[in-house]
Amino acid sequence: MERLIERAQVLIEALPYIQRFAGKTVVIKYGGAAMVHAELKDAFVQDLVLLQLVGIRPVVVHGGGPQINDWLEKLAIPSEFVDGIRVTSAEAVEVVEMVLVGHVNRTIVQKIQSVGGRGVGLSGKDGGLVRARRAPPKQTSTGPRDMGQVGEVVAVDPSVIDHLDAAGFIPVIAPVAAGENGETLNLNADTFASALAVALKAEKLVLITDVEGVKDAEGKRITNLTASEARALISQGTAKGGMIPKLLAALADGVHQAHVIDGRVPHAVLLEIFTDRGIGTLITP
Ligand SMILES: Nc1ncnc2c1ncn2[C@@H]1O[C@H](COP(=O)(O)OP(=O)(O)OP(=O)(O)O)[C@@H](O)[C@H]1O
Ligand SMILES: [Mg+2]
Repeated sequence: MERLIERAQVLIEALPYIQRFAGKTVVIKYGGAAMVHAELKDAFVQDLVLLQLVGIRPVVVHGGGPQINDWLEKLAIPSEFVDGIRVTSAEAVEVVEMVLVGHVNRTIVQKIQSVGGRGVGLSGKDGGLVRARRAPPKQTSTGPRDMGQVGEVVAVDPSVIDHLDAAGFIPVIAPVAAGENGETLNLNADTFASALAVALKAEKLVLITDVEGVKDAEGKRITNLTASEARALISQGTAKGGMIPKLLAALADGVHQAHVIDGRVPHAVLLEIFTDRGIGTLITP
């Protein structure tokens, strides 16, 4: 009996959060370990379906770095990263699109289906969701570096997402979009998710990764970050590589609240949304 009452208490603990977030949109960037390990993948899609059933609107943007790396390697196409962003040749972008849209996206949609949800897969091209353009060259220590077919968001038309949401589907989006000349562009999933969060007026942007959160110079997790502290982490070089686009995503104008959370923890998304303790790092503008 006691155990049953305990169970009721756990459910009731979520009540104020459900009340607060019902009807609101949460954009979730799915990446890192949570996208690789079977048990974590199951836990993630269960979280999505549960969120949706209690009236919260999850929108998923996924990465797929490891899967893209595997395929580029199989096809002997070299790739290289500058500040956590993949320099994407015309050859590489075809692989990026095939792997993200054709494989990774479908796998997530299927998983959602397998736990009783209804996922719909899209890329930035579908329904005119995202218009993009080529990103400018990156400044590096050896001068400007052309990033190839890497894109940045020009505009978001969220109407396709609104329609899917209203009809009870969970949108799952691959961060690929068309540029001004119709060319396919590869966008960083964190940045893409951030632009969607702004356009959808999302309550939260949740960035799932494979570390405990944003770490300080001593390697300790930071629980709360202000915008200026986050900028300082980048300029001091404490935040490097893949963490840079995450912090910039969190700092974008119009993002209400961003969380970098540890996707190695099963049900990290539920723990983040339904508890006060907050796992990972909260970044407030
Ligand atoms: N200050 C920092 N705190 C935490 N992680 C950091 C920091 N600086 C750099 N990193 C690196 O950033 C990485 C997370 O970004 P990364 O792009 O590798 O993963 P992801 O975005 O979760 O996955 P994907 O890019 O495949 O979607 C961490 O694994 C860590 O090595
Ligand atoms: Mg990344």
